Amino acid sequence: MKLLQIDSSITGENSASRAISAAIVSALTAADPAIEVTTRDLATDALPHLTLDVLGTPGGTPELAEFLASDVIVIGAGMYNFTIPSQLKAWLDRILIAGQTFRYTAEGPVGLVGDKKVFVALSRGGYYGEGQPGAAVEHAETYLRAVLGFIGITNPTFILAEGLAIDAETRAKAVAAAVAEAGDLVIPA
Ligand SMILES: Cc1cc2nc3c(=O)[nH]c(=O)nc-3n(C[C@H](O)[C@H](O)[C@H](O)COP(=O)(O)O)c2cc1C
Repeated sequence: MKLLQIDSSITGENSASRAISAAIVSALTAADPAIEVTTRDLATDALPHLTLDVLGTPGGTPELAEFLASDVIVIGAGMYNFTIPSQLKAWLDRILIAGQTFRYTAEGPVGLVGDKKVFVALSRGGYYGEGQPGAAVEHAETYLRAVLGFIGITNPTFILAEGLAIDAETRAKAVAAAVAEAGDLVIPA
């Protein structure tokens, strides 16, 4: 089984989403040591904005091939300006490719990669859950659920840490809870 770990936070060692994505990968590989892990760091190895040339890469981009070859994807992202880091958007621009990960039909778009399992480690400075004033401007989790659903991944698992900008204690507790939650994860049969 192949696992692709994608991280996109710019904050390196201090990153909450990286701590959580690492805990997810650690739990999954502890449960199945045969898992082959590939990591892609979109902050240290940033992809350029999408261009027409990249879109038309003969045979597809290496990023798409790497994604298609993976059974499990772990995505780490912090909320930046109410949405995902642009580094992660540049990666998604190489993954949502007509004919490869989705296709249009007379009945509407159809996702083609529903057999993959996706875990998302998402950290946010404020609170954006249901009923919170911030819920209306949550465009990170909602966006990721939309694009993953579009390519057929309708049941991603999100591990959230929120309120990280409130104070150090709130942050520590939220990150520890998310890391603990990640520790119990398994890949569904
Ligand atoms: C450039 C930048 C923009 C941010 N924008 C938001 C935001 O719009 N809403 C929010 O709740 N937190 C925001 N934050 C706080 C981050 O979501 C929070 O620190 C999160 O943990 C970042 O992920 P990381 O720790 O993995 O880098 C922002 C942080 C940075 C660095």
